[in-house]
Formats: sequence, structure tokens, C-alpha cells
Amino acid sequence: MSITGKNIRKSFGDPSIEVLHGLDLIINDGEFVSISGRSGSGKSTLLYILSTLDKPSSGEIEIDGLNPYELSSHDLHEYRNKSVGFIFQFHYLLPELTALENVLLGPRNLGLQEEYKKRAIELMEEFEIGDQAYKFPSQMSGGQQQRVAIARALIMKPQYIFADEPTGNLDSITGLKVMKFLQKINKEDGTAIVLVTHEPDYAAMAEREIYLIDGKIASRDLDAHV
Ligand SMILES: Nc1ncnc2c1ncn2[C@@H]1O[C@H](COP(=O)(O)OP(=O)(O)O)[C@@H](O)[C@H]1O
Ligand SMILES: [Mg+2]
Repeated sequence: MSITGKNIRKSFGDPSIEVLHGLDLIINDGEFVSISGRSGSGKSTLLYILSTLDKPSSGEIEIDGLNPYELSSHDLHEYRNKSVGFIFQFHYLLPELTALENVLLGPRNLGLQEEYKKRAIELMEEFEIGDQAYKFPSQMSGGQQQRVAIARALIMKPQYIFADEPTGNLDSITGLKVMKFLQKINKEDGTAIVLVTHEPDYAAMAEREIYLIDGKIASRDLDAHV
């Protein structure tokens, strides 16, 4: 099981400007990989492509040997819903839902809200936000909201977590807590994590570090863990 990117290129705009210049990489099952590099180096673009939120302009993505864009849209949605968790810097919680309802968003979309309620509460307790379950996002701190977003990403026990600067708007103590949660999930549940960060200390907490410079991988990476 793995996600493979082969000669990934991405361009934006008209006239088009290429921002990823033919990247090759593999994310193996259960790995914790960080992607770091300066602002504008292409980290988020690469993460979106690996997670199927965006398509490469050329090159190929394979998930467990299959091209996701050859799947039916039903199967691609199912893959995203069940196998992938997303965490962003800004959490995009729905303001009109309580913390618990936000965590249960994915299960609710699949009609599985009741089945997952116990797990949602357990996750929230583990993340020290059990007492926030019936509060709305506007009643919680930024760190608490971010942990709600992380619980939401984990609720379906995804095979992969894609996190884009998940600690970017947190104070350093909360940021470190979030990082430790990610490490724990990776170790205990075998969830593969692809973490974008520009903080070297956090990047170093991954098992493997990928460094981008101007849309290219600076480290020799392709064959490192095949
Ligand atoms: N949707 C978009 N349209 C146009 N340009 C974009 C878009 N997304 C990213 N870019 C450009 O691609 C480059 C890489 O962006 P990004 O992947 O967000 O970098 P990073 O996450 O490393 O800061 C930047 O120059 C950015 O302006
Ligand atoms: Mg970014």
C-alpha cells in the first residue's frame, strides 16, 4: 500500500507558470513524512495533489497501484471519505454545529452518525476537548477548535492523514501537543501522515523529511524507502 507520484508537474494561470517541476516520490503505508520548504516552494500544491484534492498538470499519481482519476467518481469520493483525513491550518469547522457534530460530519454523510458517536467522544476526551463537545466553535479557543478538526479528520480511522501547516495558528505548547497526537496516531494506529510544515523542529519529528526548493525535491528521496 502506498501513494506514488511520478514526474508530477503542476502549472497555474494563463500564461501558465509551472510551480512543481517533475517530482518523484513515494509515501509508504504507515509512514510519517514531512514536507518542508520556504513559503511558495510548492508544499501545499504537492499535498493537494498527493491527497487527490487537486490534479497534476502532468505526471501520474497512483494509490495502491491505481490511478485515482480512472476510478468512478463514486469510488473516488468513497476513497476520500473513508481512507483520507485532511487537516488544514484554518480548520473550517461549521459554525452552526457543535464540536461533537463537527467531529461526526464524515460519518453523518454516510449515515453512520450513531455508530461513530462513542468513538467521537473517546477521541475528544483523548484530545482533552471532551468538555467542549456541546459547544459551538465560536465558544472555543483556537487550539481547541484545531483539535476538533483533528478529531474530525481521524474519526473514520483513515489510512492517510494529510495535514497542511496544522500547527500554523497555534501557540507553541498547543502546537507541540498536536504534533505528539499525530506521532501517536501514526505509531498506534499505523496511520500514514503527510505533514506540511515550515517549522524545522516539527519537520524533524517525522520519520522522513522531504525538502522542497522552488518546486523540486532537494533531498534524494525516491528510492529511500521503497
Ligand atoms: N490556485 C493557484 N493559482 C495560481 N497560483 C497558485 C495557486 N496555488 C498555488 N499557486 C502558486 O504556486 C506556488 C506554490 O504555492 P504553494 O504550493 O501554496 O506553496 P507553499 O505551500 O510551499 O507556500 C506559489 O507561487 C503560489 O503563488
Ligand atoms: Mg502552503
